[in-house]
Amino acid sequence: MTAPEQSCYVYIQLPGTFEWVPCASLKIKEVGSSAFEGTFTYGKKYLARHNVVALDQYRLPLTQRPQKFTKLKGIPGAIRDASPDAWGRRVIQAKLDRPEADIQEMEYLLNGPGDGAGNLRFGLSVDPPGPNRRFNQTHQLQSLILAAQKLDEDGRLPDEVLEELEPGTSMGGARPKVTVEDAQKIWLAKLPEKGDRHNNQGIEFATLALARAAGLRVCGTRLEKVGLSDVLMLQRFDREWNPDAKAYARYGLVSGLTVLDAEDGYLGRERWSYLLLADELRRWSVKPDEDRRELFRRMVFNAMVTNNDDHPRNHALIQTSAGWRLSPAYDIVPVALVSQERRDLALNAGNFGRSASLYNLLSRCDVFGLSREDAQAQVSAMLEVVKGWKALFAGLGIESRTLEMLDGAMLPGSFFRMDAPDIV
Ligand SMILES: Nc1ncnc2c1ncn2[C@@H]1O[C@H](COP(=O)(O)OP(=O)(O)O)[C@@H](O)[C@H]1O
Ligand SMILES: [Mg+2]
Repeated sequence: MTAPEQSCYVYIQLPGTFEWVPCASLKIKEVGSSAFEGTFTYGKKYLARHNVVALDQYRLPLTQRPQKFTKLKGIPGAIRDASPDAWGRRVIQAKLDRPEADIQEMEYLLNGPGDGAGNLRFGLSVDPPGPNRRFNQTHQLQSLILAAQKLDEDGRLPDEVLEELEPGTSMGGARPKVTVEDAQKIWLAKLPEKGDRHNNQGIEFATLALARAAGLRVCGTRLEKVGLSDVLMLQRFDREWNPDAKAYARYGLVSGLTVLDAEDGYLGRERWSYLLLADELRRWSVKPDEDRRELFRRMVFNAMVTNNDDHPRNHALIQTSAGWRLSPAYDIVPVALVSQERRDLALNAGNFGRSASLYNLLSRCDVFGLSREDAQAQVSAMLEVVKGWKALFAGLGIESRTLEMLDGAMLPGSFFRMDAPDIV
């Protein structure tokens, strides 16, 4: 049975403003079994605004013409980026109390709490929605952790949680997380899970601290003790409090997936590439040289700590009034593996595919605007810091059994290989 056509309005908070305006309509229809076609059309009134911006200047240029999409179930990448992934979807399924198979893609846009990544919201009326409901506060984290655990256990959310708390977040990613407000900042709070064998929030916090020490531009972080567990608080880089307006400015956000015009699944993966991302930064970023060097350091750091979950949604660009920039770094987690022979990143990194070894990482440093000497100097400076990871992690309270486990991730022998293998 084909699903009926779905449609919604898209609203935007334009750079430098605090109100919502309708900007486009989106229609999705099924055009075959599980194949969808989306039609995105900017509104005439929106196009006539003096401060109009394109949601994605390359794949959603400003035109009155309807624009068609078939990738990502017909949803343009810049819009899909405002929608939840695995975790947020489970919350919406529990709220709607309907099985996953019955929920259309657009319903995830329409039923989120409106706190999605970037500066977009969605609705059924041409008039923009009112203000968001009040944000959860940090003192509610304990209840939110319990709600997340209940959801994990039986796929349901208690009634009192649905009434009092906003357990959902329209943010992406697989791990349980909520949006909270604290001290005029908006945070993405990553929660502990019952089955965790290590303090994953602590590990991610320490890894981001190491990345910062190694010279990466990292989002603001802190650990919040809740009962016996730690919650990882990540300061949202797509929100900023404005004391004059007494409101949060929202910045546009597109993921690496959108910038690469790639897909999530196996198809479309040939475009998963740091080299292509660096090329895209040349046309997207207002500071392309700085951002390409930063991307090089992130790629090298991911290889140093075996973060092989560096897929395109774990990279983003944000749009402030100044224009598009590579966002601060986030979601960097070491993965302990047995092999010291060969390790791979999620994205292509050089002439030798995804290999996380120096012979590959240095092979196309020109694409990042670096000479071989510059690239090698960057790697050496980073190594000096990363070599000291254990002391840094221990100083941040990471337990010794966790440090032992992480030994299998940090600076593996394969990273240092300078000789390219004959057959890759
Ligand atoms: N500090 C931040 N500010 C704004 N958005 C963020 C921040 N950190 C992550 N995000 C967004 O939230 C999504 C989920 O966060 P992430 O840390 O990747 O979670 P997970 O470990 O579940 O994948 C990311 O894909 C990104 O779009
Ligand atoms: Mg992620």
